Amino acid sequence: MRIFITGICGFVGSALALRLRERWTDAEIFGLDNLSRHGSEVNPPRLRAAGIRVHHGDVRQASDFETLPECDFVIDAAANPSVLAGVDGRTSSRQLVEHNLLGTVNVLEYARTCGAGVVLLSTSRVYSIAALAGLPLCVEDEALTLEPAGPLPPGCSQRGIAEEFSTAAPVSLYGATKLASETLALEYAEAFDLPIVVNRCSVLAGPEQFGVAEQGIFSFWVRAYALKRPLRYIGFGGLGHQVRDALAVDDLAELVALQMQEPHRAGGIWNVGGGPANAMSLAQLSRWCADEFGPHAIDSEPTPRPFDVPWVVLDSGRALAELGWRPRVPIRDILGEIAAHHRQHPDWLDRSRPA
Ligand SMILES: NC(=O)c1ccc[n+]([C@@H]2O[C@H](COP(=O)([O-])OP(=O)(O)OC[C@H]3O[C@@H](n4cnc5c(N)ncnc54)[C@H](O)[C@@H]3O)[C@@H](O)[C@H]2O)c1
Repeated sequence: MRIFITGICGFVGSALALRLRERWTDAEIFGLDNLSRHGSEVNPPRLRAAGIRVHHGDVRQASDFETLPECDFVIDAAANPSVLAGVDGRTSSRQLVEHNLLGTVNVLEYARTCGAGVVLLSTSRVYSIAALAGLPLCVEDEALTLEPAGPLPPGCSQRGIAEEFSTAAPVSLYGATKLASETLALEYAEAFDLPIVVNRCSVLAGPEQFGVAEQGIFSFWVRAYALKRPLRYIGFGGLGHQVRDALAVDDLAELVALQMQEPHRAGGIWNVGGGPANAMSLAQLSRWCADEFGPHAIDSEPTPRPFDVPWVVLDSGRALAELGWRPRVPIRDILGEIAAHHRQHPDWLDRSRPA
């Protein structure tokens, strides 16, 4: 099998490449990256040492695909993954669309030419901000949680947000580039009979993640806390009660491998998250950090940031029902691995940030 991974030097791309290499030792694995993510430059040597080829190139450039060898599967992990991209003053909205949507067009065209399957890494941020903000929530143990008796909208249950949940705008510019990419990918699947899998991921986390406040929150928070850097609870009263579920990148790799083994059965949209058992609020995360690293005061900024939502926990029921997949790595183990990695690489946080 020949596997091509875009964004192969990013957190998810590199992790998938290395884990799939371990699983399928005779697979040919190669990938493309423009090294635009701060920190991604650490990965080419690790990948090459594992026999994985890295091409320097840009998914926005159709001609960068012309000299690539053919493949059987594309994993699309190249993106600007920040929910604030396009409005943060660092990336323009046009640049975001070029990276995340034009890049998908070029990936799909390359897959069509090869007759290859595609795994598109999408996000829980395709879900409607208004619908998420309207969920009936209460506070339990410093964390927002669904009201036990609250009336829930279609696609939401105590197991979390399922694929049927509303994707009505606004979803953030980032979410919109992903939603548009998903639609296009599903059309290519239909029009050209390609096996195309769309994984809507919750917060992915792991020790080698390049965390910044707006992307890679678990990695960012643990490292910044350990270094006693200033941290703030932003929005929702400034109490840190907002909740996300974390999924270990090892668990994602396991699912992607299962999907690639049965690509025609695995087509369409999948929610992929850590679920209620791996959900945690920022305040709870700070408590975990205090046990690990000692006390550190957290500031409060009650004014919300653009596109922020109080509670996102994904229901991965389809993956359990159809592939027997469930997340195995508990959130406390994920955090422990990040903390251990931080102790070995205390400069990692600064590598991950724009200078
Ligand atoms: N990490 C998460 O929590 C998370 C959650 C949901 C979805 N996702 C999705 O997973 C994918 C990977 O995310 P990640 O966390 O690894 O991000 P990352 O920033 O660590 O990796 C992305 C990689 O893509 C590269 N890249 C960006 N633009 C490129 C371009 N135009 N051409 C070539 N390479 C380019 C970057 O240099 C980087 O190495 C993204 O599509 C993201 O939207 C991530």
